[in-house]
Amino acid sequence: MAARKFPSTVLVVGATSAIAEATLRLIAERGARFYLVGRNPDKLHAMAADLHTRGAAGVATYAMNLDDTAGHAAMLAAAAQSLGSIDMALLAHGVLGDQPMAEASYAAAAAILHTNFLSAVSLITWLANYFEQLGQGTLAVISSVAGDRGRKSNYVYGASKGALTIFVDGVRNRIDRKGVHVLTIKPGFVATPMTAHLKQGPLFATPAQVARGIVKAIEKRRDVVYLPSFWRGIMFAVRMVPRPIFKRMNM
Ligand SMILES: NC(=O)c1ccc[n+]([C@@H]2O[C@H](COP(=O)([O-])OP(=O)(O)OC[C@H]3O[C@@H](n4cnc5c(N)ncnc54)[C@H](OP(=O)(O)O)[C@@H]3O)[C@@H](O)[C@H]2O)c1
Repeated sequence: MAARKFPSTVLVVGATSAIAEATLRLIAERGARFYLVGRNPDKLHAMAADLHTRGAAGVATYAMNLDDTAGHAAMLAAAAQSLGSIDMALLAHGVLGDQPMAEASYAAAAAILHTNFLSAVSLITWLANYFEQLGQGTLAVISSVAGDRGRKSNYVYGASKGALTIFVDGVRNRIDRKGVHVLTIKPGFVATPMTAHLKQGPLFATPAQVARGIVKAIEKRRDVVYLPSFWRGIMFAVRMVPRPIFKRMNM
């Protein structure tokens, strides 16, 4: 079978994320064209300049707060027009949120669920239909190992990512057969601004390590990837702990 071409027109939502940035640096070396979406125009422009110097064939930017789901369709249509055709979309935006605040306040919990899950549902719905109609494309979504089992330390974030994982599973089941590659990316701890307040231990990976895993998973058209890969074993063990024991653990 002929090797498939690596995506050359790439939409990145939440482009200023450290994991996305490291991934785009690798893809830029292959001469891709990018459409970067994020809420900080200064960061987007700095990234665009950096990607140009690394070999990107073109970079356009679009500034928006992704919580504004009513604005998604206009942004996505602008991306499709600018790129000509979208080969790949990478969804990387997300917030860790404040778990104690989310335990105390529905509004705080809903804000996390809105950014991490509902805004992604809005984007994925449009993109799934777009790629389905094209009969090709790659839809890569950054979820998290935190979505594999609810834990007291971060179950609101975990629920947003668990719901996202299930949603993406369903989309894959619907459009893989139409020629669309749907990739769920489940990083463990990664040293990025999102986790800067946490004490770093040996389980922490760098954004560059995770980026290499993402590029490989796109090349190999994987369905679900744990990054680094040892998280697959860790999360298997976490899921296997019997509930009567798990409910007494501090995780
Ligand atoms: N770091 C980890 O340990 C880890 C582990 C598993 C999964 N993940 C996931 O990996 C993805 C990337 O995170 P990261 O680790 O690279 O952290 P990061 O550098 O903090 O990236 C998060 C990105 O989301 C953007 N964002 C958040 N809310 C937004 C909104 N309403 N509108 C527009 N942009 C918004 C942020 O924009 P600003 O720069 O403007 O704030 C930032 O670019 C996230 O989905 C995260 O949940 C991270």
